[in-house]
Amino acid sequence: MDAIEVNNLVKSFREKNKLIKAVDNISFSVKKGEIFGLLGPNGAGKTTTLNILNGLISKDSGEIKILGLDPEQNELNWESVKNKINVSTAYYSLSEQLTIRQNLKVYAMLYNIKNIQEKIDQLLQMFELKSLDNRKVVQLSSGEKTRVSLCKGFINDPEVLFLDECTVGLDPDIAEKTREIIRDYQEQKGTTIIFTSHYMYEVEELCNRIAFMNNGRIIKIDTAGNFKKLIKKTSIELTIKENYPALMKIMKERNIDILSTGTNTVVFEVSSSTDQLYKLMNMIFKAGVKISDMHMNKPTLEDIFIQFARKKQRVR
Ligand SMILES: Nc1ncnc2c1ncn2[C@@H]1O[C@H](COP(=O)(O)OP(=O)(O)OP(=O)(O)O)[C@@H](O)[C@H]1O
Ligand SMILES: [Mg+2]
Repeated sequence: MDAIEVNNLVKSFREKNKLIKAVDNISFSVKKGEIFGLLGPNGAGKTTTLNILNGLISKDSGEIKILGLDPEQNELNWESVKNKINVSTAYYSLSEQLTIRQNLKVYAMLYNIKNIQEKIDQLLQMFELKSLDNRKVVQLSSGEKTRVSLCKGFINDPEVLFLDECTVGLDPDIAEKTREIIRDYQEQKGTTIIFTSHYMYEVEELCNRIAFMNNGRIIKIDTAGNFKKLIKKTSIELTIKENYPALMKIMKERNIDILSTGTNTVVFEVSSSTDQLYKLMNMIFKAGVKISDMHMNKPTLEDIFIQFARKKQRVR
């Protein structure tokens, strides 16, 4: 049994006379213990999908199952599911006039947590918030608020955790530690996680598989490695010490795609298979061209994101 199953999910919003199809017939499943990424441009439908899964809004049509149960089918299913899931987002509104500890206590009570103080202390320690525990949320920096939201997400040791842009505003050091916490926690408890973020390296580092969404639809589901293989070209930048004309002659003869040139530099594209590059470099060396520097820009998930996001908008 998969931890999450989504079939033909549809959700529209009506705004004045316009119908906004936020989620347009999507299907996917997430295995138990998997970290599944939802990627896509602003307005793609990621948060709407997560909000349906965590029970915040209801779907128009389609089927969802969480831990084998359809939460909307009856009250009993929802009661069973809601204690096993949780959500964390940097945009979640905490009670600003309550302290960190008071906020977490409210959530702990909602989830019927035993040993509330112990659990809160453990989370504050994990997210380096212990010294701030009696500070009102209104007095916190945005990164500190983000960390309180993360504590909230972990408070019931959820079996399924929805992390919607949960690392926004974190400094690089805390962001790195947070990724480690998420990974360690997931490994220890086998939690199933759906993760959204606009930081590509983070998605690449954490997610086992990624669904790329655009205009409410899922364009493709695959691993980060396979997504990157979709870009067939690698760009190379060479700085030339001697014999620049010989280099340019070879480039012309071999029909190499030149992206830009400088007084002693050239940036060009070759196929991502190392074969073509190896042959070309051999020719360049044989022609007596002396190279003082070389940079290879391998395709990144960011390149894929931009390529997918710029694909033509759907006509409705
Ligand atoms: N309550 C609402 N009323 C009307 N339109 C909405 C509502 N919530 C979302 N939308 C619209 O639905 C679409 C999908 O929004 P959603 O928040 O799911 O996108 P997202 O992928 O999470 O984007 P982002 O990366 O900016 O967080 C957008 O066009 C958005 O404007
Ligand atoms: Mg969103």
